[in-house]
Amino acid sequence: MGKLDKIALDKDSGEFLYHQLYNEIKELILNGELPPDTKLPTIRKLAEKLEVNNVTVVTAYNQLEADGFIYKKVGSGSFVKKLDKVEKSEEELEPSGIANFGSTAPTPNLFPVEEIKAAIDEVLDRDKANAFIYQESKGYTPLRKSLVSYLEKLGIGTGIDNIQIISGAQQGIDIISKAMVDYGDIVFTESPTYTGAIGVFNSRGARAIGIPIESDGIDVVELENKLKSFRPKFIYIMPNFQNPTGYSYSEKKKEKLLELASEYGFYIIEDDYLSDLHFNNRQNRTLKSMDKADRVIYIKSFSKLFMPGLRIAFMVVPSELYSGILSAKHISDISTPGLIQRAFDAYMRNGNWDENIKRINKVYDLRYRIMVKAVEELMPEEIEYILPEGGLNFWFKLPSGQSSNELYDYLLERNISIAPAMVFDLNGEDSECFRLSVTSIDSEDIRPFMERLTEGMKEFFKAGSKSKLTAEQYNRFL
Ligand SMILES: Cc1ncc(COP(=O)(O)O)c(C=O)c1O
Repeated sequence: MGKLDKIALDKDSGEFLYHQLYNEIKELILNGELPPDTKLPTIRKLAEKLEVNNVTVVTAYNQLEADGFIYKKVGSGSFVKKLDKVEKSEEELEPSGIANFGSTAPTPNLFPVEEIKAAIDEVLDRDKANAFIYQESKGYTPLRKSLVSYLEKLGIGTGIDNIQIISGAQQGIDIISKAMVDYGDIVFTESPTYTGAIGVFNSRGARAIGIPIESDGIDVVELENKLKSFRPKFIYIMPNFQNPTGYSYSEKKKEKLLELASEYGFYIIEDDYLSDLHFNNRQNRTLKSMDKADRVIYIKSFSKLFMPGLRIAFMVVPSELYSGILSAKHISDISTPGLIQRAFDAYMRNGNWDENIKRINKVYDLRYRIMVKAVEELMPEEIEYILPEGGLNFWFKLPSGQSSNELYDYLLERNISIAPAMVFDLNGEDSECFRLSVTSIDSEDIRPFMERLTEGMKEFFKAGSKSKLTAEQYNRFL
């Protein structure tokens, strides 16, 4: 039975067996382990081998056929379909056919539109015109209560008086900075870091200092050295699945950071957009759940886990900072739209959130595993990388002296998009590094898109990049 020997179904998991089988076969197809036109075992044989009912296999095969992963030939059996023949509706197709490794916007086919529509209807029937009054700047009280319960499950103990509803994590970074940073103040960030945060710190006239990120978190030795010379207002970090590198902090580094925050008296902004997910069964403890001294300002975005266009997120703000941040929120937009807050609250109370997380976990975990395999098998050997433990972002390095901006231009002409390092650099400087994200790519497209991307990279190397000299290399000529 070849590759299908690997399949193991968990009869105690509570998940339908046909669904487990569907997912296992789909993954083998998407990973290229079952190439096009491979014949699948007969229903009877596979059912016997897995010790399940024939109906389980029939249902899984039917679903695979309906979703375009296999085809049936009358009298001969079922076969794997060629991936680029997977049929998609017109809206699902990228209008430009671009292989979009550059964006971290989630694919809209993941959005639970029906459930949110039901929640909006429920709110309109219940609250009528009240859904359209000015909402409190702190946020709709029942939603803040729901979020306190949600946080308890993440191991974060807080009260509604510390919750601030915001219109997206981006606004969170902005209003914290409005409240805390004046022209010329120092803030620390990881280097590289999230583009949107760089924009905010620049707009405040802050002096942002980058501390290198390593595969187990920020370089704490360098951080402590810098703390001896500078007094930052805060440090902005992403301890789980950092953007752009995908790296996560070790427990030790998380603890060290909290110790340093108490010792040197600075705040930590924790930007958390994925920690609810458990790739590789990794427990992604948030820094906030370990924060006994109340030094962490926690920002939770729902854009990657839910729907970015809702523009809803929240923060847990230390009591000492609450009133300043609330004023900044008020002068920014008075409040996050009440209808959206009420609908999101109804959605959470109806138990839809837990279902959503389970669903998204599966989708993103599959994308992660397909991407890891594609990287290991296809990435040209010139490229250096450390694979992240999970998440949606992957960070790569070209050979020394080459420019990721040039690679970006080269690939874009071939309809492939990547995110070059300059976007994540505090000074907007080009370097060898670049990010690939699978947030905007459906699992069935990852492998074929990676084939296109890596072919493009090989051509780029052959064409001989107009190699950019590094500062050290220039120095040799001085
Ligand atoms: C690390 C990080 N923080 C914040 C944001 C913005 O999130 P939101 O849509 O909640 O404003 C993003 C979006 O890509 C992000 O990657």
